[in-house]
Amino acid sequence: MILRPSQREQVLPLPVALISTVSGGGVRNVAPWSNITPILRPLDEIVLASWIKRDTLENIRATGEFVVNIPQASMVEEVMVCARNYPPEVDEFEEAGLAPRPSAKVRPPGIDGCLAWMECVLSEEIARENYSLVIGTVVHLEVDDRYFNDAGEMDFGRAEPLSVMLGQEGMWFTRPVRSGRFARYTEMVTGRYATNQSIPHPER
Ligand SMILES: Cc1cc2nc3c(=O)[nH]c(=O)nc-3n(C[C@H](O)[C@H](O)[C@H](O)COP(=O)(O)O)c2cc1C
Repeated sequence: MILRPSQREQVLPLPVALISTVSGGGVRNVAPWSNITPILRPLDEIVLASWIKRDTLENIRATGEFVVNIPQASMVEEVMVCARNYPPEVDEFEEAGLAPRPSAKVRPPGIDGCLAWMECVLSEEIARENYSLVIGTVVHLEVDDRYFNDAGEMDFGRAEPLSVMLGQEGMWFTRPVRSGRFARYTEMVTGRYATNQSIPHPER
């Protein structure tokens, strides 16, 4: 089967982040975002794709700042409240019953109860006719210690970060689970998979 262009997005598992911003006048905004990806490693820069008619985009243009919050799967109802199309003067923290969490380096607050808070400043906007690519520099990244080990790895089995698969008439919210295969980074260089290798954190 060959997919039509309108069906193509349905093949990709996507993350779900909540982007918090404030308007030039100080109104707080939150919106779910899936077209978002780090620009290689380390995570110094992140890119997100935004349709033109988004308060999030207007706010980022006005203030040059945003926070990428990583919600747990249990926050899906709040995610869907923030997906509604409110006028720019509506405070979406209040609408969704979300508690703000003071940010360290930017003005927009993060969202309390999320797993991680990535504070970003706008470094470039690539404007197309109907959408924009927003590139942000990550200036501060903090996580909830309860779900991360000392190496900064997420225990995603317990943390349950939210992801999504798009369908023809709606979205299936999902979350990552382990497939059973662990690959050390060195395997990409050596090509060797050691069957007797010790897998870190086997309890997870
Ligand atoms: C799971 C999910 C992912 C979304 N991803 C994007 C996205 O990547 N880009 C985008 O422009 N809108 C995306 N949206 C739609 C916006 O979240 C939605 O239009 C929202 O109302 C925008 O809010 P704002 O106008 O306050 O920015 C997504 C919605 C959902 C539910």
